[in-house]
Amino acid sequence: MGREVVVGKIKVIICQDKQEVSREAAAIFIQAINSNPEIVLGLATGGTPVGMYKELIEMNKKGKVNFSKVKSFNLDEYAGLDGSHPQSYRFFMNQNLFNHINIDKSNTYVPEGKFCDCEQSCRNYEEAIKKNSGIDLQLLGIGSNGHIAFNEPGSPEKSRTRKVDLTARTIDDNTRFFDNRNQVPTQAITMGIETILEAKQIILLATGANKATAVTGALKGPVGSRLPASFLQGHSACTFIVDKAAACEL
Ligand code: F6R
Repeated sequence: MGREVVVGKIKVIICQDKQEVSREAAAIFIQAINSNPEIVLGLATGGTPVGMYKELIEMNKKGKVNFSKVKSFNLDEYAGLDGSHPQSYRFFMNQNLFNHINIDKSNTYVPEGKFCDCEQSCRNYEEAIKKNSGIDLQLLGIGSNGHIAFNEPGSPEKSRTRKVDLTARTIDDNTRFFDNRNQVPTQAITMGIETILEAKQIILLATGANKATAVTGALKGPVGSRLPASFLQGHSACTFIVDKAAACEL
């Protein structure tokens, strides 16, 4: 069990390592799903949640959690990538979670990356979230530059799902998932900050020393677009689950 501290309105659980972060986060998700089997989840991709998804898969196989009525909305998708592209976030979600649990794939939503009408497709995404009465429990990672989803520094608080440019730093950070930097898409479709803040409960995961400055800025820095995760300070039910390395500047 991690050590708990409270910073402003945000509960921070500080764990020994990445494995403990994954277990703590999975336990919160399992409890939430068991108490509301029709829960609407907001999900993230990237390296950080993979361990938590492994835990959820294991617990689903053991019959400890049932996804049959769960719905999910992912935060973002690379612009230009079709869901069958191995680096697309739809592909990632299928590989790392959906293919291994008893979720109905037609209840899983990921923004459309390859489309003819981006603005319409972003509006449809927002509409689908509303039609499902909003997101109950939102999972977030954090970029080393403080982004949440792909809301890069400079993103306004009132932003909704839209197409955005990725910063050079995010492209650098995400090059590890591609063969080389030139293959990383330079744009993405992302839920907005306002979309994220409307979730009833938010869990942000961060591991590793390269996230320490962003985590400290998010919790203690001035609230503003310079560090988008700082807008979470205004949310009334937000928890950060971090390892010691990511908490080392707190
Ligand atoms: C992914 C997402 C991003 C990541 C962030 C951290 O859906 O929205 O904000 O959470 O870039 O990525 P990792 O976990 O790879 O360090």
